[in-house]
Amino acid sequence: MPKTPHPPRGSTPGGGRALVTGGAGFIGSHLVERLVARGTDVTVIDDLSTGRRENLAAVESGVRFIESDASAALPTLASEAPFDEVYHLAAAVGVDLVLADPIGSIERNIDVTADVLRFAHEHGAPRTLIASSSEVYGKPGAAVFSEDDDVHYGPTTTTRWSYACSKAIDEHLALAYHEHRGLPTVCVRLFNTVGPRQVGRYGMVLPRFVEAALAGTPLRVFGDGQQSRCFCDGRDVADVLPRLLAEPACFGRVFNLGSDAPITIAELAERVIAVLGSSSTIEKVPYGDAYPGGFEDLRHRKPDLARIRGAVGFEPTRTLEDTIRDVAAAIRGEGVTP
Ligand SMILES: NC(=O)c1ccc[n+]([C@@H]2O[C@H](COP(=O)([O-])OP(=O)(O)OC[C@H]3O[C@@H](n4cnc5c(N)ncnc54)[C@H](O)[C@@H]3O)[C@@H](O)[C@H]2O)c1
Repeated sequence: MPKTPHPPRGSTPGGGRALVTGGAGFIGSHLVERLVARGTDVTVIDDLSTGRRENLAAVESGVRFIESDASAALPTLASEAPFDEVYHLAAAVGVDLVLADPIGSIERNIDVTADVLRFAHEHGAPRTLIASSSEVYGKPGAAVFSEDDDVHYGPTTTTRWSYACSKAIDEHLALAYHEHRGLPTVCVRLFNTVGPRQVGRYGMVLPRFVEAALAGTPLRVFGDGQQSRCFCDGRDVADVLPRLLAEPACFGRVFNLGSDAPITIAELAERVIAVLGSSSTIEKVPYGDAYPGGFEDLRHRKPDLARIRGAVGFEPTRTLEDTIRDVAAAIRGEGVTP
């Protein structure tokens, strides 16, 4: 139990004030739309490093937008009335980004999270959600990843593992703030999340495939394509995040969040081509060519969803075909289904 418990403020869903870091990003912007729709007064901090202001176009008038690094902006909010909820989604996201700028990514993922948790603790102890990642599992032996499993990383000389370690430190910090300072925190380990507004230029596979399929260029599948992932629509993820913060039994806990329906990357490429009626072909690219500096990919990644199902009854509602069609529509500029 927390040693200095704060009663959760404003624990009734709806209304209130929420802070969303990374709110102009892919998942953040879908979340902000939901918070605004339920009548919450939303402040977004985003430095637009990977996010886009136009992601918030549908809620422009209902959101206060602060274009800034989150650590720099937080002190400017200290004199205001406390927030009821904080959703910390700002991070360096994507394999390519982490490999290209390990120092910036580590600092962005650890320092900013520490600042957000300190701010929350010192300013009213709002319910606080930290976006973590399935990368935290490292390279587990189990076929299905459960929250209490041991984690296993490669050596520190392999840059790739810095993302996993930084997100693991974020979780340790959030859990310690709950345990030792009474801050109501929830850690969410997101598995592969896809959907409209996700951009492909930082190595994300589905937008890369859809962009290629629309352009009629080859879909580049790394390795033998038999590695599998479970893809969940970011709008399903955004639907459930507020429900986790509304449930006090979730505080001080870690939750897997995603889909548990696996598909190989080769099958995903075929599915994208079929759904979009594309003339594209599939090109197998050796890992050494895709990542000349080396990259240790996981063969399979599948979450155990029992905990989040038990806590808030989470079930994804959108099919992969729906998501592929909506990602294509968004890339064509046809708008996004909420
Ligand atoms: N998309 C996935 O598959 C996935 C998987 C695991 C974890 N996550 C986590 O979910 C969260 C959201 O990811 P996303 O997929 O929406 O990516 P995203 O890149 O679209 O969103 C991140 C947002 O944070 C902003 N940002 C980054 N550093 C910032 C800083 N210091 N200050 C202010 N803003 C900053 C970016 O501009 C961007 O808008 C991240 O924490 C990420 O680690 C995502």
